[in-house]
Amino acid sequence: MGRALPPGPPLPAPLQAGLIWLDPIRFVRACHRRYGDLFTIRVPGIGTLVYLADPDDVKTAARGDPTIFHAGEAAVPLTQILGTRSLLRLDEDEHRRSRAMMLPAFHGDSVRRQVAEMVAITAEEVAQWPVGEPFAVHPRMQRLTFEVILRTVIGVREESRLAALRAALPLMLETGSPLKLIPPPRVLLRFGLWRRRAQHRAAALALLTDEITRCRADPQLAQRTDALAMLVRSVDDAGTLMTDDELLDQLVTLLLAGHETTATALSWAFERLVRHPALLRRTAEAAADGDDAWLTAVCKESLRVRPVIFEFGRTLTAPVQLGGYQLPAGVMLAPSINLVHHSSRHYPDPEEFRPQRFLDQRPDPALWLPFGGGVRRCLGATFAQVEMRTVLREVLRRVELSPTTAPDEPVRPRLVIMAPRQGAMVTVRRRIPAADRVPTA
Ligand code: HEM
Repeated sequence: MGRALPPGPPLPAPLQAGLIWLDPIRFVRACHRRYGDLFTIRVPGIGTLVYLADPDDVKTAARGDPTIFHAGEAAVPLTQILGTRSLLRLDEDEHRRSRAMMLPAFHGDSVRRQVAEMVAITAEEVAQWPVGEPFAVHPRMQRLTFEVILRTVIGVREESRLAALRAALPLMLETGSPLKLIPPPRVLLRFGLWRRRAQHRAAALALLTDEITRCRADPQLAQRTDALAMLVRSVDDAGTLMTDDELLDQLVTLLLAGHETTATALSWAFERLVRHPALLRRTAEAAADGDDAWLTAVCKESLRVRPVIFEFGRTLTAPVQLGGYQLPAGVMLAPSINLVHHSSRHYPDPEEFRPQRFLDQRPDPALWLPFGGGVRRCLGATFAQVEMRTVLREVLRRVELSPTTAPDEPVRPRLVIMAPRQGAMVTVRRRIPAADRVPTA
């Protein structure tokens, strides 16, 4: 029988929470150096977190028995935003059922049908970029990935409805502060900030409910290729359709999980490329030639060196033997994507941005985990990678970016997302005339 919990910093839990909130990378890396591949951090409101940095332990957590390694339970703090039927919040049979119903909408074939729309949205976005003056690309990527979800996941076409959703949804999805995750006492919902939040949420949910109703009634439903239409048509093993409440929570989940993550991943790809002139040149050539192998390698390496999500979570429902410890039920495991991706044992010169690592090779799923793993691996992993590749290609076909000697942008944590602190500053040197562009496939 092993010891119960791995070592960890002997600091009061609120101080540990403060350190992890202010600079998670620094704090977690310092703990890793001090305590090794398994260490314990305590955070009030979340509980006891055991960080895992060894790929074998990470694999155990990701691929372990889903009745013991609960991801839905680990996502409880997100209930305020996601709702109780969200895929992210479910475990075991309920999770299996919902995931099976949602998967077809995110398979490669379904995602490929969305590429033309992604190209069109990128072209519209890039047409608005200034030439010759630096600007932060992150807000532009947020707008772009949000638009992709509106049009390809929710399947909205009509301009007036798009405008209403563009105005209402960001107010509901804004997750900058951890305070947003704390459920207020019911009585507070009638006052100030809480009341405004409840109103924003109600307004956004009403618009999404309207989309669900319209989709169900659409005479073209059988021909529609957007994810919502596929979810509306989807049935479980018993032949049952999703209810409106389920569909609503899944739409909010897809918006929350799919928009900011992809925007941040793309921003880091630009942040890395403008600091590596030779790689930027090669990527622009690959974009012009339609060399998807190189663009894919750039995306994979960017997700390795700057993973958008730092760790994923699994709450134990029973004791588990791991790395010489007998971890008790109730502990939350935090398999650290960042520590695995930056381990010099597994990646030579791990801080270097080198897309060649992934050129024409599939990454080892135990060592490359920007999308988590096992039965909870990101539902939108294919969607996100196709979108990243498409946006990168279409941007670099339309504008020439200037390289920069500016220092690397530090990471700014935004809840679970690690964004570039200055918003990934770029400068467009010139627009590439349409005549010089290779037509999009
Ligand atoms: C670069 C962009 C993205 C990153 C880095 C990312 C990362 C992740 C990670 C780390 C998880 C947790 C996996 C685990 O617990 O093992 C996850 C789950 C999930 N992601 Fe993504 N994601 C991205 C884009 C998307 C997109 C575009 C969508 C959908 C439109 C999406 C939908 C989801 C859903 C629904 C889950 C929950 C899966 C489940 O619990 O079964 N994600 N994602």
